[in-house]
Amino acid sequence: MAALSTSEVELPASSRFAGQKLEISITEDDIHRRVKELADAISHDFRGKQPIMIGVLNGSFIFMADLVRALDIDFEVDFIKLSSYGKDTATSGTVRLLKDISADITGRDVIVVEDIVDTGLTLKFLRARMTEAGPTSVTFVSLLLKEEVANLDFPLDYVGFNIPNRFVVGYGLDADQKMRGLGSLYAFKEN
Ligand code: IMP
Repeated sequence: MAALSTSEVELPASSRFAGQKLEISITEDDIHRRVKELADAISHDFRGKQPIMIGVLNGSFIFMADLVRALDIDFEVDFIKLSSYGKDTATSGTVRLLKDISADITGRDVIVVEDIVDTGLTLKFLRARMTEAGPTSVTFVSLLLKEEVANLDFPLDYVGFNIPNRFVVGYGLDADQKMRGLGSLYAFKEN
């Protein structure tokens, strides 16, 4: 990846999006500030409880790591891995379960940690998967929400940022498995 300036980077030659430019969408500082606010709200709302935080792989791994380190309540973690995009930047319309949770969530307070809600298909799948195991409660937190496109029949409990309908990468989110290491969030530049 080539840094063109502090606010612009170019996708590497090894990427199928080689040469395309990305522009900054949400800075690292703004992300960290908002993650702390989300963690404070969750700590307040779950005081005295021991929720199990379930990260949705791969995209949420950095958000999850920052979020749990900013909590000041007891918690446990687990992960689930889903795929809805494959190699494209448009949803495939189906969700595949690639790795299920290992923990027994029956009778537990579950907090599902998503990186981004786009169409909402993945979230619906997650809700069905969690609910069937009989938890005490299921709560959803997503760093990003594409409000214009999300078709949800239930509200998200905690949202970091509402963003426009543009493909974003960085802070754990990928374009064809690349660019997850960028500290800020970037959007593909429109030509
Ligand atoms: P949904 O099922 O359409 O809501 O899509 C959710 C999943 O698609 C997320 O967990 C991401 O893995 C991926 N995704 C959706 N939009 C983006 C994006 O703008 N950048 C990177 N990944 C995305």
